[in-house]
Amino acid sequence: MYEELEKIREKCLKCEKCPLSKNRHNVVFSDGIPNSKLMLIGEAPGYWEDMKGLPFVGRAGQLLDKIFLSVGLSREKDVYICNTIKCRPPENRNPLPDEKAACREFLDAQINILKPKIILICGNIALNSMLPNEKGITRARGKWFKGPYESKMMPIFHPSYLLRNDSREKGSPKWLMWQDIKEIKRAYDTLGE
Ligand code: URA
Repeated sequence: MYEELEKIREKCLKCEKCPLSKNRHNVVFSDGIPNSKLMLIGEAPGYWEDMKGLPFVGRAGQLLDKIFLSVGLSREKDVYICNTIKCRPPENRNPLPDEKAACREFLDAQINILKPKIILICGNIALNSMLPNEKGITRARGKWFKGPYESKMMPIFHPSYLLRNDSREKGSPKWLMWQDIKEIKRAYDTLGE
């Protein structure tokens, strides 16, 4: 499994299939542990991710780490983290359909090789890639969907959205995320070894 994943990573690091390759500092392939239990799919690398070559290392990433840690999950031990596209779009604009299509083989390979049991679909861009018939993250979040290889997938809010919505009141985005992460942890705990 690791060899296969490494081959894909090497291919991805050299990829020039779309124009985003021209201005990147680093390809952002993944972080966390390549395990088969829990995968998170985000949107696209931002400034810090592009600089460091790792996903979710800016402010949104720090919040994501805190959300995982609040239920005892950590990126070092429990989660494989990747994005729908692996190179940063200019000014952090949304990825274009052609860019997503060019990069899809890498995301598909990550899923096919690791066969995660639980896939977290983080934000609208990832939702659109994984569940294109869904009408938006606000409606889809917190629900389980059938995923590839007997997995189940749950859309969740993107941490950048939570950073813009500070309230923790019942029904607020942060409160809803708290409900979702607890449900995710419950499902994770039932998976066993
Ligand atoms: N937002 C994402 O969706 N992915 C990252 O890697 C960083 C920020």
